[in-house]
Amino acid sequence: MTTRAVVLGIGHYLPERVVPNAEFEKTLDTTDEWIRTRSGIERRHFAADDQTTSDLGSLAAKAALQNAGLEADDLDAIVVATSTPDLTFPSVATMVQQKIGMTRGFGFDVQAVCAGFVYALTNANALIVSGQAKRVMVIGAETFSRIMDWTDRATCVLFGDGAGALILEAQEGEGTSSDRGILSADLNSDGRYRDMLFVDGGVSTSGDSGKLRMQGNALFRQAVEKLAFTAQTALDKINLGHDDVAWIVPHQANIRIIQGTAKKLGIPMERVIVTVQDHGNTSAASIPLALSVGVADGKIKPGDLLVTEAIGGGLAWGSVALRW
Ligand code: UT7
Repeated sequence: MTTRAVVLGIGHYLPERVVPNAEFEKTLDTTDEWIRTRSGIERRHFAADDQTTSDLGSLAAKAALQNAGLEADDLDAIVVATSTPDLTFPSVATMVQQKIGMTRGFGFDVQAVCAGFVYALTNANALIVSGQAKRVMVIGAETFSRIMDWTDRATCVLFGDGAGALILEAQEGEGTSSDRGILSADLNSDGRYRDMLFVDGGVSTSGDSGKLRMQGNALFRQAVEKLAFTAQTALDKINLGHDDVAWIVPHQANIRIIQGTAKKLGIPMERVIVTVQDHGNTSAASIPLALSVGVADGKIKPGDLLVTEAIGGGLAWGSVALRW
Protein backbone atom coordinates (compact mmCIF):
# COMPACT_ATOMS: atom_id res chain seq x y z
CA MET A 1 0.00 0.00 0.00
CA THR A 2 1.09 3.57 -0.75
CA THR A 3 -0.19 6.80 0.78
CA ARG A 4 -1.67 9.08 -1.89
CA ALA A 5 -2.81 12.72 -1.69
CA VAL A 6 -6.30 12.51 -3.18
CA VAL A 7 -8.50 15.49 -4.14
CA LEU A 8 -11.59 15.76 -1.91
CA GLY A 9 -13.02 19.06 -3.11
CA ILE A 10 -12.37 22.20 -5.13
CA GLY A 11 -13.65 25.77 -5.35
CA HIS A 12 -12.76 29.19 -6.65
CA TYR A 13 -13.53 32.87 -6.31
CA LEU A 14 -13.34 35.62 -8.92
CA PRO A 15 -13.81 39.29 -7.99
CA GLU A 16 -17.03 40.91 -9.24
CA ARG A 17 -15.41 43.52 -11.48
CA VAL A 18 -14.92 42.20 -15.02
CA VAL A 19 -12.72 44.29 -17.32
CA PRO A 20 -13.04 43.67 -21.07
CA ASN A 21 -10.07 44.38 -23.39
CA ALA A 22 -11.87 47.39 -24.86
CA GLU A 23 -11.47 49.23 -21.55
CA PHE A 24 -7.67 49.48 -22.13
CA GLU A 25 -8.27 51.19 -25.50
CA LYS A 26 -9.32 54.30 -23.54
CA THR A 27 -5.96 54.80 -21.82
CA LEU A 28 -3.35 52.89 -23.87
CA ASP A 29 -2.19 52.57 -27.49
CA THR A 30 -3.69 49.08 -27.77
CA THR A 31 -6.70 47.29 -29.23
CA ASP A 32 -9.02 44.48 -28.27
CA GLU A 33 -7.88 42.77 -31.46
CA TRP A 34 -4.15 42.89 -30.51
CA ILE A 35 -4.77 41.53 -27.01
CA ARG A 36 -7.11 38.81 -28.28
CA THR A 37 -4.89 37.59 -31.13
CA ARG A 38 -1.50 37.84 -29.33
CA SER A 39 -2.64 36.38 -25.97
CA GLY A 40 -6.14 34.85 -26.28
CA ILE A 41 -7.34 37.08 -23.43
CA GLU A 42 -10.79 38.71 -23.77
CA ARG A 43 -11.49 39.85 -20.22
CA ARG A 44 -10.14 39.57 -16.68
CA HIS A 45 -11.38 40.18 -13.13
CA PHE A 46 -9.89 42.88 -10.88
CA ALA A 47 -10.26 42.87 -7.10
CA ALA A 48 -12.12 45.75 -5.46
CA ASP A 49 -9.94 48.36 -3.71
CA ASP A 50 -10.72 46.90 -0.30
CA GLN A 51 -10.22 43.25 -1.32
CA THR A 52 -6.90 41.56 -0.50
CA THR A 53 -5.31 38.32 -1.64
CA SER A 54 -6.33 36.60 1.61
CA ASP A 55 -9.95 37.72 1.04
CA LEU A 56 -9.94 36.06 -2.38
CA GLY A 57 -8.16 32.97 -1.01
CA SER A 58 -10.61 32.63 1.91
CA LEU A 59 -13.64 32.76 -0.39
CA ALA A 60 -12.11 30.07 -2.64
CA ALA A 61 -11.23 28.02 0.47
CA LYS A 62 -14.81 28.25 1.77
CA ALA A 63 -16.12 27.06 -1.61
CA ALA A 64 -13.70 24.10 -1.56
CA LEU A 65 -14.75 23.17 2.01
CA GLN A 66 -18.40 23.25 0.97
CA ASN A 67 -17.64 21.16 -2.12
CA ALA A 68 -15.84 18.56 0.06
CA GLY A 69 -18.50 18.65 2.82
CA LEU A 70 -15.87 19.58 5.42
CA GLU A 71 -15.45 22.13 8.24
CA ALA A 72 -12.34 24.33 8.55
CA ASP A 73 -11.12 22.39 11.60
CA ASP A 74 -11.15 19.16 9.57
CA LEU A 75 -8.01 20.53 7.89
CA ASP A 76 -4.47 19.99 9.23
CA ALA A 77 -2.69 22.53 7.03
CA ILE A 78 -3.06 25.32 4.49
CA VAL A 79 -0.47 25.98 1.78
CA VAL A 80 -0.99 29.19 -0.20
CA ALA A 81 0.82 29.90 -3.46
CA THR A 82 1.05 33.65 -3.99
CA SER A 83 3.43 36.40 -5.08
CA THR A 84 1.04 39.19 -4.07
CA PRO A 85 0.58 38.75 -0.29
CA ASP A 86 -1.54 41.19 1.75
CA LEU A 87 1.54 42.11 3.81
CA THR A 88 5.23 41.17 3.79
CA PHE A 89 4.30 39.01 6.77
CA PRO A 90 2.46 37.18 8.27
CA SER A 91 1.70 34.66 5.56
CA VAL A 92 -1.52 34.77 3.55
CA ALA A 93 -2.06 31.17 4.72
CA THR A 94 -2.38 32.22 8.37
CA MET A 95 -4.76 35.04 7.38
CA VAL A 96 -6.90 32.54 5.46
CA GLN A 97 -6.73 30.21 8.48
CA GLN A 98 -8.26 32.94 10.65
CA LYS A 99 -10.82 34.04 8.02
CA ILE A 100 -12.22 30.54 7.47
CA GLY A 101 -12.36 29.87 11.24
CA MET A 102 -9.64 27.20 11.41
CA THR A 103 -8.32 27.03 14.97
CA ARG A 104 -5.79 24.21 14.69
CA GLY A 105 -3.02 22.96 12.39
CA PHE A 106 -0.61 25.22 10.49
CA GLY A 107 -0.27 27.31 7.35
CA PHE A 108 2.50 28.79 5.21
CA ASP A 109 3.03 30.42 1.82
CA VAL A 110 4.97 29.21 -1.20
CA GLN A 111 6.39 31.74 -3.66
CA ALA A 112 7.22 30.43 -7.13
CA VAL A 113 5.24 33.07 -9.07
CA CYS A 114 3.19 31.52 -11.91
CA ALA A 115 4.56 28.05 -11.09
CA GLY A 116 3.44 28.56 -7.48
CA PHE A 117 0.46 26.24 -7.52
CA VAL A 118 2.50 23.35 -8.93
CA TYR A 119 5.10 23.95 -6.20
CA ALA A 120 2.38 24.20 -3.51
CA LEU A 121 0.72 20.97 -4.65
CA THR A 122 4.09 19.21 -4.50
CA ASN A 123 4.70 20.58 -0.99
CA ALA A 124 1.25 19.49 0.17
CA ASN A 125 1.81 16.05 -1.32
CA ALA A 126 5.09 15.78 0.63
CA LEU A 127 3.30 16.74 3.88
CA ILE A 128 0.75 14.00 3.26
CA VAL A 129 3.04 11.15 2.17
CA SER A 130 5.45 11.90 5.05
CA GLY A 131 2.59 11.73 7.57
CA GLN A 132 2.85 15.40 8.67
CA ALA A 133 -0.76 16.10 7.72
CA LYS A 134 -3.84 14.13 6.69
CA ARG A 135 -5.83 16.91 5.02
CA VAL A 136 -4.25 19.90 3.32
CA MET A 137 -5.94 22.89 1.66
CA VAL A 138 -3.86 24.10 -1.30
CA ILE A 139 -4.71 27.60 -2.53
CA GLY A 140 -3.49 29.77 -5.40
CA ALA A 141 -4.51 33.39 -4.77
CA GLU A 142 -3.32 36.58 -6.45
CA THR A 143 -4.03 40.28 -6.84
CA PHE A 144 -1.63 40.97 -9.75
CA SER A 145 -3.60 44.16 -10.55
CA ARG A 146 -1.71 45.69 -7.58
CA ILE A 147 1.73 45.26 -9.22
CA MET A 148 0.83 46.46 -12.72
CA ASP A 149 2.45 49.47 -14.37
CA TRP A 150 -0.70 50.87 -16.01
CA THR A 151 1.41 52.75 -18.57
CA ASP A 152 3.11 49.55 -19.85
CA ARG A 153 0.82 48.13 -22.53
CA ALA A 154 3.05 45.05 -22.94
CA THR A 155 2.18 43.78 -19.44
CA CYS A 156 -0.86 45.45 -17.85
CA VAL A 157 -3.36 44.02 -20.36
CA LEU A 158 -2.29 40.44 -19.60
CA PHE A 159 -2.91 39.86 -15.90
CA GLY A 160 -5.94 39.38 -13.64
CA ASP A 161 -6.97 38.62 -10.05
CA GLY A 162 -8.60 35.51 -8.57
CA ALA A 163 -8.21 32.46 -6.36
CA GLY A 164 -8.73 28.71 -6.52
CA ALA A 165 -8.46 26.10 -3.77
CA LEU A 166 -8.45 22.34 -3.51
CA ILE A 167 -8.36 19.95 -0.59
CA LEU A 168 -6.09 16.91 -0.53
CA GLU A 169 -6.56 13.94 1.81
CA ALA A 170 -4.28 11.01 2.67
CA GLN A 171 -5.77 7.81 1.28
CA GLU A 172 -4.27 4.38 0.72
CA GLY A 173 -3.55 3.39 -2.89
CA GLU A 174 -2.08 0.32 -4.57
CA GLY A 175 1.12 2.13 -5.51
CA THR A 176 0.30 2.03 -9.24
CA SER A 177 -0.50 4.74 -11.78
CA SER A 178 -4.17 3.67 -11.55
CA ASP A 179 -4.37 5.15 -8.03
CA ARG A 180 -6.32 8.33 -7.48
CA GLY A 181 -4.28 11.31 -6.22
CA ILE A 182 -0.93 12.89 -6.98
CA LEU A 183 1.21 10.43 -8.94
CA SER A 184 4.31 12.39 -9.88
CA ALA A 185 5.83 15.86 -9.97
CA ASP A 186 8.72 17.63 -11.67
CA LEU A 187 10.05 20.96 -10.34
CA ASN A 188 12.71 23.20 -11.88
CA SER A 189 14.14 26.70 -11.52
CA ASP A 190 17.02 28.63 -13.05
CA GLY A 191 17.92 31.99 -11.49
CA ARG A 192 20.02 32.98 -14.50
CA TYR A 193 16.73 33.95 -16.23
CA ARG A 194 15.77 36.43 -13.49
CA ASP A 195 15.48 39.46 -15.78
CA MET A 196 12.83 37.85 -18.03
CA LEU A 197 10.08 38.34 -15.44
CA PHE A 198 10.47 40.14 -12.14
CA VAL A 199 9.05 42.88 -9.91
CA ASP A 200 11.29 45.94 -9.59
CA GLY A 201 10.82 46.49 -5.87
CA GLY A 202 10.80 44.70 -2.54
CA VAL A 203 11.57 44.77 1.16
CA SER A 204 15.38 44.71 1.00
CA THR A 205 15.74 46.82 -2.15
CA SER A 206 13.34 49.71 -2.80
CA GLY A 207 11.24 49.22 0.30
CA ASP A 208 8.03 49.24 -1.73
CA SER A 209 6.30 46.42 -3.56
CA GLY A 210 7.38 47.48 -7.10
CA LYS A 211 5.86 46.81 -10.52
CA LEU A 212 5.98 43.78 -12.80
CA ARG A 213 8.53 43.83 -15.65
CA MET A 214 8.58 41.21 -18.40
CA GLN A 215 10.51 40.41 -21.57
CA GLY A 216 7.43 38.74 -23.04
CA ASN A 217 8.88 37.57 -26.32
CA ALA A 218 12.01 35.99 -24.79
CA LEU A 219 9.91 34.29 -22.13
CA PHE A 220 7.45 33.02 -24.72
CA ARG A 221 10.28 31.17 -26.49
CA GLN A 222 11.42 29.52 -23.22
CA ALA A 223 7.88 28.63 -22.16
CA VAL A 224 6.74 26.12 -24.79
CA GLU A 225 10.02 24.19 -24.70
CA LYS A 226 10.24 23.97 -20.91
CA LEU A 227 6.52 23.28 -20.34
CA ALA A 228 6.38 20.40 -22.81
CA PHE A 229 9.56 18.92 -21.33
CA THR A 230 8.38 19.11 -17.71
CA ALA A 231 4.94 17.64 -18.54
CA GLN A 232 6.58 14.79 -20.42
CA THR A 233 8.94 14.21 -17.48
CA ALA A 234 6.01 13.90 -15.03
CA LEU A 235 4.41 11.33 -17.36
CA ASP A 236 7.68 9.41 -17.88
CA LYS A 237 8.04 9.06 -14.10
CA ILE A 238 4.83 6.99 -14.00
CA ASN A 239 5.39 5.25 -17.33
CA LEU A 240 2.33 6.83 -18.94
CA GLY A 241 2.07 8.55 -22.31
CA HIS A 242 -0.02 11.23 -23.99
CA ASP A 243 -2.81 8.74 -24.83
CA ASP A 244 -3.39 8.17 -21.11
CA VAL A 245 -3.95 11.87 -20.38
CA ALA A 246 -7.60 12.95 -20.08
CA TRP A 247 -6.83 16.66 -19.54
CA ILE A 248 -3.86 18.99 -19.68
CA VAL A 249 -4.55 21.79 -17.19
CA PRO A 250 -1.95 24.43 -18.09
CA HIS A 251 -1.01 27.72 -16.51
CA GLN A 252 -3.14 30.26 -18.38
CA ALA A 253 -0.69 32.91 -19.62
CA ASN A 254 -1.21 32.90 -23.38
CA ILE A 255 -3.36 30.75 -25.68
CA ARG A 256 -0.45 30.45 -28.12
CA ILE A 257 1.80 28.99 -25.39
CA ILE A 258 -1.00 26.60 -24.38
CA GLN A 259 -1.49 25.48 -28.00
CA GLY A 260 2.24 25.16 -28.70
CA THR A 261 2.80 23.04 -25.58
CA ALA A 262 -0.17 20.76 -26.33
CA LYS A 263 1.10 20.26 -29.88
CA LYS A 264 4.60 19.36 -28.67
CA LEU A 265 3.05 16.86 -26.24
CA GLY A 266 0.89 15.33 -29.00
CA ILE A 267 -2.35 16.20 -27.19
CA PRO A 268 -5.27 17.77 -29.13
CA MET A 269 -6.76 21.05 -27.83
CA GLU A 270 -10.06 19.18 -27.14
CA ARG A 271 -8.22 17.68 -24.15
CA VAL A 272 -6.87 20.98 -22.77
CA ILE A 273 -8.71 23.10 -20.18
CA VAL A 274 -8.64 26.74 -21.36
CA THR A 275 -9.82 29.70 -19.25
CA VAL A 276 -7.31 32.35 -20.35
CA GLN A 277 -10.03 34.17 -22.37
CA ASP A 278 -12.07 34.85 -19.20
CA HIS A 279 -9.41 35.19 -16.48
CA GLY A 280 -6.23 36.50 -18.15
CA ASN A 281 -3.02 35.48 -16.41
CA THR A 282 -3.77 35.08 -12.70
CA SER A 283 -0.31 33.68 -11.91
CA ALA A 284 -0.47 31.06 -9.11
CA ALA A 285 -4.29 31.14 -9.17
CA SER A 286 -4.61 30.14 -12.81
CA ILE A 287 -4.31 26.35 -12.47
CA PRO A 288 -6.73 25.92 -9.52
CA LEU A 289 -9.15 28.29 -11.28
CA ALA A 290 -8.92 26.18 -14.45
CA LEU A 291 -9.36 22.97 -12.45
CA SER A 292 -12.41 24.34 -10.66
CA VAL A 293 -14.00 25.60 -13.88
CA GLY A 294 -13.16 22.28 -15.60
CA VAL A 295 -14.96 20.37 -12.85
CA ALA A 296 -17.94 22.76 -12.77
CA ASP A 297 -18.29 22.44 -16.57
CA GLY A 298 -18.49 18.64 -16.21
CA LYS A 299 -15.25 18.10 -18.16
CA ILE A 300 -12.97 16.77 -15.40
CA LYS A 301 -14.37 13.59 -13.86
CA PRO A 302 -13.23 11.18 -11.12
CA GLY A 303 -10.58 8.80 -12.45
CA ASP A 304 -9.29 11.20 -15.15
CA LEU A 305 -5.53 11.53 -15.48
CA LEU A 306 -4.58 15.22 -15.42
CA VAL A 307 -1.28 16.93 -16.06
CA THR A 308 -0.80 20.49 -14.82
CA GLU A 309 2.16 22.55 -16.03
CA ALA A 310 3.34 26.11 -15.35
CA ILE A 311 6.23 28.53 -15.82
CA GLY A 312 6.90 31.97 -14.42
CA GLY A 313 9.32 34.35 -12.74
CA GLY A 314 12.58 32.88 -11.55
CA LEU A 315 12.40 31.30 -13.96
CA ALA A 316 10.55 28.57 -12.08
CA TRP A 317 8.61 25.84 -13.83
CA GLY A 318 7.18 22.39 -13.22
CA SER A 319 4.34 19.94 -13.54
CA VAL A 320 2.21 17.54 -11.52
CA ALA A 321 0.45 14.42 -12.79
CA LEU A 322 -2.59 13.45 -10.76
CA ARG A 323 -5.60 11.19 -11.09
CA TRP A 324 -8.78 13.06 -10.18
O1 UT7 B 1 2.84 33.80 -16.52
C1 UT7 B 1 4.23 33.90 -16.67
C2 UT7 B 1 4.58 33.52 -18.00
N1 UT7 B 1 4.26 34.60 -18.90
C3 UT7 B 1 4.34 34.34 -20.16
O2 UT7 B 1 4.63 33.21 -20.48
C4 UT7 B 1 4.11 35.43 -21.14
C5 UT7 B 1 4.91 35.11 -22.35
N2 UT7 B 1 4.81 36.09 -23.41
C6 UT7 B 1 3.68 36.36 -24.09
O3 UT7 B 1 2.62 35.88 -23.79
C7 UT7 B 1 3.81 37.22 -25.33
O4 UT7 B 1 5.19 37.43 -25.60
C8 UT7 B 1 3.09 38.58 -25.22
C9 UT7 B 1 1.59 38.41 -25.27
C10 UT7 B 1 3.52 39.26 -23.93
C11 UT7 B 1 3.48 39.49 -26.39
O5 UT7 B 1 3.26 38.85 -27.63
P1 UT7 B 1 4.38 38.82 -28.76
O6 UT7 B 1 3.81 38.21 -29.93
O7 UT7 B 1 5.59 38.16 -28.15
O8 UT7 B 1 4.63 40.34 -29.03
P2 UT7 B 1 5.98 41.19 -28.87
O9 UT7 B 1 6.35 41.35 -27.45
O10 UT7 B 1 7.01 40.62 -29.80
O11 UT7 B 1 5.49 42.59 -29.44
C12 UT7 B 1 5.07 42.74 -30.79
C13 UT7 B 1 4.66 44.18 -31.00
C14 UT7 B 1 5.68 45.18 -30.48
O12 UT7 B 1 5.71 46.27 -31.40
P3 UT7 B 1 6.90 46.39 -32.48
O13 UT7 B 1 8.17 46.41 -31.68
O14 UT7 B 1 6.77 45.16 -33.34
O15 UT7 B 1 6.57 47.67 -33.16
C15 UT7 B 1 5.08 45.66 -29.19
O16 UT7 B 1 5.48 46.96 -28.86
O17 UT7 B 1 3.45 44.44 -30.29
C16 UT7 B 1 3.60 45.64 -29.52
N3 UT7 B 1 2.76 45.54 -28.32
C17 UT7 B 1 1.46 45.91 -28.33
N4 UT7 B 1 0.68 46.42 -29.30
C18 UT7 B 1 -0.59 46.70 -28.98
C19 UT7 B 1 3.06 45.07 -27.09
N5 UT7 B 1 1.99 45.15 -26.30
C20 UT7 B 1 0.99 45.67 -27.04
C21 UT7 B 1 -0.35 45.96 -26.76
N6 UT7 B 1 -1.10 46.48 -27.78
N7 UT7 B 1 -0.93 45.76 -25.56
